[in-house]
Amino acid sequence: MARVFVTRSIPNRGLDLLAKAGITIEMYEKDEAIPQKELGKRLLGCDAVVSLLSDTLDAEMMDAAGPNLKLIANYAVGYDNVDVEAAKKRGIVVTNTPVPEASEAVADHAFALLIALAHRIVESDAYARAEKYKGWSPDLLVGADVHGKTLGVIGAGRIGLALATRAVKGFGMRCLYSDRQKNPTFEEVCGGLFTPFSNVLKESDFISLHVPLLPTTRHLISTAEFALMKKSAFLINTARGPIVDEKALLRALKTGRIAGAGLDVFECEPAIDCDLTDTLELKSFPNVILTPHTASATVETRDAMSRLVAENIIAVLGGKPAISPV
Ligand code: GLV
Ligand code: GLV
Repeated sequence: MARVFVTRSIPNRGLDLLAKAGITIEMYEKDEAIPQKELGKRLLGCDAVVSLLSDTLDAEMMDAAGPNLKLIANYAVGYDNVDVEAAKKRGIVVTNTPVPEASEAVADHAFALLIALAHRIVESDAYARAEKYKGWSPDLLVGADVHGKTLGVIGAGRIGLALATRAVKGFGMRCLYSDRQKNPTFEEVCGGLFTPFSNVLKESDFISLHVPLLPTTRHLISTAEFALMKKSAFLINTARGPIVDEKALLRALKTGRIAGAGLDVFECEPAIDCDLTDTLELKSFPNVILTPHTASATVETRDAMSRLVAENIIAVLGGKPAISPV
């Protein structure tokens, strides 16, 4: 019987489908990220693995699993944790979970960060809870408008498009985008304007990142890029932490180079700050909002991801093509 190893419990939807298909499910027992050494041991002889973005599936791990391994079904949209080339060489299929629900949920979350930054929602909540509110005042916690402003989308894929649609259709914003190439669908759906990366940085009031983490996108946003931004600009990252040079971001915040940042992902995740000895910390800035990589954390999205993981496994182990190969 085919054996699948699941590195951490995922919603039942997919597990039920696997069980119904007669696939044996083995799962890491603890509710924590599985240590890499343990993962290597547990994968031995398995036909497929359901991995999380926090698991590293490199050549060494694939070899530890042995020749039975046919599929790495990553329970995530991003797959920078998997060495896709090494998998290809070994004839191992890699799949991800680009369900429509995930694009919408991440776009909702990015927009939530955008509005929360502009309206200083988190600061205002802390202020009210601390019972500091003593009376209405013209200059109390004044923020920035959202409607009519310019959103810059870096990476015009599914999530970027879902975000731009909200901004343009719901909030009357203007949208600029940059990508490797023009995306006609993007322009049709939300009227976004294709413009060079540096222009997006210069002209946008809110800049949101929606590119995958690749060698070419690591530190895509660093000192030179912050220097191009408006001082009133907000940066939003719901993609992958290392796309932003955290040190450069801290300096930009400290010097008021930008107005603030909304971050769902971190360069040295799960650590919020890479350099714990640095006195500058992301969490010391009131104009920074931090969420712990929860942009896709909705019941509906996680359920759909679980289903797609199972459908990929059932297809590939049944000798059929994967549904969402990377
Ligand atoms: C989450 O970050 C994902 O890639 O699904
Ligand atoms: C604010 O509450 C206003 O009435 O302008």
